[in-house]
Order: sequence, then C-alpha cells, then structure tokens
Amino acid sequence: MNELRIFAPATIANVSCGFDALGLCLDTVGDEMVIRKTDEKGIKISKLVGQDLPVETEKNVAGVAGMAMLNKLHISHGFEIEIYKNIKAGSGIGSSAASSAGTVWAMNELLGKPFSAKELVPFAMQGEKLASGTAHADNVAPALIGGFTLVRSYKPLDIIKIPTPDELYATVIHPQIEVKTSDSRSVLKENITLKKSIIQTGNLGGLISGLYTSDYNLIGRSLHDEIVEPLRSILIPGFNEVKENAIECGALGAGISGSGPSIFALSKGEKMAENVAYVMSETFKKLNIDYDVHVSKINTNGCRII
Ligand code: HSE
Repeated sequence: MNELRIFAPATIANVSCGFDALGLCLDTVGDEMVIRKTDEKGIKISKLVGQDLPVETEKNVAGVAGMAMLNKLHISHGFEIEIYKNIKAGSGIGSSAASSAGTVWAMNELLGKPFSAKELVPFAMQGEKLASGTAHADNVAPALIGGFTLVRSYKPLDIIKIPTPDELYATVIHPQIEVKTSDSRSVLKENITLKKSIIQTGNLGGLISGLYTSDYNLIGRSLHDEIVEPLRSILIPGFNEVKENAIECGALGAGISGSGPSIFALSKGEKMAENVAYVMSETFKKLNIDYDVHVSKINTNGCRII
C-alpha cells in the first residue's frame, strides 16, 4: 500500500470543564487527506485546497507533525500530502489538529503501524505547537484515538480514553468570525483561586463519571466551566443567548468549543441535537450573524480510511 485517502475528524476540545485536558471526536465534520509514499525523503505538501494556509513543510502543521514522526524512524523514503480542508482555520473545532493528526495517522497506517494511536499523539502535538504556541493534546488525542479522551498528565504524557454513552450527540455552531487560538489563550489568567479550582475539579469529575455510567443528567450538570468560559465568552458575539437557548431547548449543556468562536451543545438523542441546532441557528439569525451548524454523533474511532 503506497497511498491512502482518509477522513481527519474535527474535534471539540475542553468540553467546558476540562481545559487542555478533555476532548471529543466528531463524526460528520472533518477534512479529507491523501497521503502517499515518495522516493524523496521528508514531507511535501503537494496540494492544499479550501483554506489559505502555508504549504512549506516547516510552516504547515501537517508538515511539522509528519517530520516529528519521520525523525523517530529510520526509513529511506518520504511522504507527499494533499489536504482538502473543510474545517475552517480559527473555528474552534480543531482545524490544525485534524491536519496534524491525519498526517501521522495515515503515515503510520502506510508504514504498517509501528506506533499505537496513543504513541502518535506527541508527534501531532508538534503541529499544535506551531499553530497556537502550546503543544496541547486535547484536540489531537480524540482525533487519533476517537471518543472522549482525557489528558491525565502532560509530563509524562498520559492519555485515557473515556467511554461514550450511546445516545450522546453534539451540535456545533460556528459564527463566521475567526478567533486565533493564540489570541484566545492570551486573555486567560495565569492564576486561579482555590474556590474556582474546587468547582472546576468537581465538574470534571462529575462529567467523567457521567460518561462512564451513561448518566445524561450528571453529564448535563457537569458541563460548567468556572475558569475559562467567563474570560473567553466576550470574544464570541451572542454566546450567552445561544447557550441559554440551547439549554432551554433541552440540550444537556453547552459551552465554547475549544478556543472558540464555535459553540457546542451535547444532547441525548439525534432528534434533540437537531432541535438544538435549530434554536442556536435562529439565535444567530436574529443577531444577523452568519454561521455554519453541524450535528454529529460522537466518533469513537477517530481518523479513518475512506
Ligand atoms: N485547549 C485549547 C484551548 C484548545 O482552549 O486553547 C484549542 O484548540
């Protein structure tokens, strides 16, 4: 096998109370990529369609992630990558992570899987470092491993896959503005109070417990972000109204997707997730804000061959 066409999924990082730690993988939103072996060593981005992004290997997240992996291998050939972007850069649903994760996942498949999915995460994190200045794993881990993933520790890296309740669906709405992750990280504070830390810890524990036990009510009660959302939500026009309307409609909870501006909601059942998509859309319509909206089952496998 010398060539693969893959689906590289979008992801929702943080999931309210798990800043830089928790993420989930989407099933209906993502990029397509073609990765092929070449005689030439190194990584070459031969095509990039859909977004205006650099194609130089060292300036492109896919190139950087691929090189991080190649540097750990002793092979005499290289790889050529075609990227067909559906996920807009700066949308908050893991655009850079999809390219980084997709690259190393497909390279690994073509090489006969020398690495496990978890072992691929550090390579993909190098792409995130290029994109945002920090090598966070809460988008690349779910894209590579699927489902919900928890980064229990960064040093050493320890990633845990968390079970996904069968009827859990995500709605994501993307107001058509771009928020760079580096900018939305710059509004955060270095220190938090003990009081806030206690609230956040309780909710993260509650959310993880709810996911293990398929307790939808507990999942909903736990979708609360005491630390990051209050600081970042001011960057997203209409955030409070969209969130309130989603919850009033019946969503379990809602919050900022990754570093925004996308807003996500989790619901029990596809029908409810569709209803939530409708009310979120109506809210942005009333505010005269253009948007893209997606409803997706949680993708428990991550990247896949298409
Ligand atoms: N955890 C990261 C952040 C995700 O919120 O900054 C960015 O995609």
